Amino acid sequence: MPETIVILDFGSQYTQVIARRVRECNVYSIIIHFNTPATEIAAMKPAGIILSGGPSSVYAADAPLLDRNLFALGVPVLGVCYGVQLFAHFLGGKVEKGLKREYGKGTLTVKDDSCALFEHLPKSLQVWNSHGDKLTKIPNGFKPVAVTENSEYAAIENREKKFFGLQFHPEVVHTPRGREIISNFVHGVCRCGKSWTMRNYVEQAVEQIRAQVGQEKVILGLSGGVDSSVAAALLHKAIGDQLTCIFVNNGVLRAREAEVVQQVFGKNFRIKLQYEDASELFLSRLKGVTDPERKRKIIGKTFIEVFEQAIAASLRLDKSVRGAAAQGRTKFLAQGTLYPDVIESVPIGGNPAALIKSHHNVGGLPKKMKLQLVEPLKCLFKDEVRLLGEELGVPKEIVWRQPFPGPGLAVRILGEVTPARCEILRNADAIVVEEMKASGWYYKIWQSFAVLLPVRSVGVMGDERTYDYTIAIRAVESQDGMTADWVKLPYDLLEKLASRIINEVKGVNRCVFDITSKPPGTIEWE
Ligand code: XMP
Repeated sequence: MPETIVILDFGSQYTQVIARRVRECNVYSIIIHFNTPATEIAAMKPAGIILSGGPSSVYAADAPLLDRNLFALGVPVLGVCYGVQLFAHFLGGKVEKGLKREYGKGTLTVKDDSCALFEHLPKSLQVWNSHGDKLTKIPNGFKPVAVTENSEYAAIENREKKFFGLQFHPEVVHTPRGREIISNFVHGVCRCGKSWTMRNYVEQAVEQIRAQVGQEKVILGLSGGVDSSVAAALLHKAIGDQLTCIFVNNGVLRAREAEVVQQVFGKNFRIKLQYEDASELFLSRLKGVTDPERKRKIIGKTFIEVFEQAIAASLRLDKSVRGAAAQGRTKFLAQGTLYPDVIESVPIGGNPAALIKSHHNVGGLPKKMKLQLVEPLKCLFKDEVRLLGEELGVPKEIVWRQPFPGPGLAVRILGEVTPARCEILRNADAIVVEEMKASGWYYKIWQSFAVLLPVRSVGVMGDERTYDYTIAIRAVESQDGMTADWVKLPYDLLEKLASRIINEVKGVNRCVFDITSKPPGTIEWE
């Protein structure tokens, strides 16, 4: 086990951000439920503990509280926001309803610069607050170390026990030097080294995969997206030809997608790749369907069907597995599940993280085939998966690609999905990707793509009157896809996109730019 910082989740929307900040310091972190018993926490041998913020008040009847024995483990503890109230509640301080809710930017003044958390930081710092309750009496053994306009106990410390409390949020970007505060805690106070790197992780993961699967065969559904691609590269490094990847062409892929996957994984990595071209089946089932939800359901269901058949075929083909199955040995299905999918969020007070649970993901993959799961990315965040991909030599084009929805272009073709419309959108989308990459914008933002509208309008090209479709261009900035802002792309780039799409894509004579943020709009149009 690497040195670990344990984060107790009290339902803050920022809990995962804390975990990421710790990992950015090259220290492993895990998120656990707030009421985990202290004995279990001790068994994890944490180098330090962080108590997250949360929307509750410690005095609320159903307030999330912790096992007080945690304070006797002899491990440094950092309480953030609600975490400070917990110190007060258990160790003899006092919290009151603040007269003024402290929300938004504030200025922190460090009064005691010998406090380890503020080492090498200026005396005055911009911080982000978000709390209603306020500490009015500090707990026994603590001393105030920093103040804000509104609070004389914005940062407190019990130096002897290595307990620290911050009323503000050091993890958010609006606390610009917050990363250094967290780094001071994990390195300076908890004495953690910098062993959490993707280079180290590769070795550890390879060993774990080998130990889990032994000599058995593993099957992975490769979509060409970041997660399954990196999982494929990692598994291949660990078990070579024991891995078979199945790539399903669902007929609504982007231009050259199937070729790129075959080139990169089949030819370059020499991974056993089973290519299932089911495009005709998908498109025939989508014929005449215009309702977005039905499109999604048809694609999800058909995918499972095709994938199950492909697995069965792969197992039949593989004599050694047939032998293994006969002896009752296990077969494995690998998935690119990430850490945010497995964290059990604390559903307090509308914590959005608790509601995110992937409504998008197709559930119910082949249960009846009795395959055991291998999930080699399940303790990683997305940004770590990308770094791991680089470490494994997966090309930038794949590692840094923007998210692409499972139902593919079907949810970007409004109205019926026909082969002709797919062709139009594929061509327009290829131009958007090409120009976004050429201008350097592609890798700076969350997503940029084309949408085909079912609207036709009149135009004039040369001397001819046209009556053709409209392409909408969408470009959004986002941290996690939950909220998004439309991106103010430069006019000359927009002009180039529109002019190329209209001139080069047959069937399109008009381009519009989508200036809707999320909420109220969604990122995809369907
Ligand atoms: P929306 O449109 O809900 O999208 O604002 C949020 C993010 O999720 C992606 N998305 C999907 N991803 N399967 C996926 O794996 C899906 O069915 C799906 N639908 C939307 C979308 O591209 C955006 O990044």
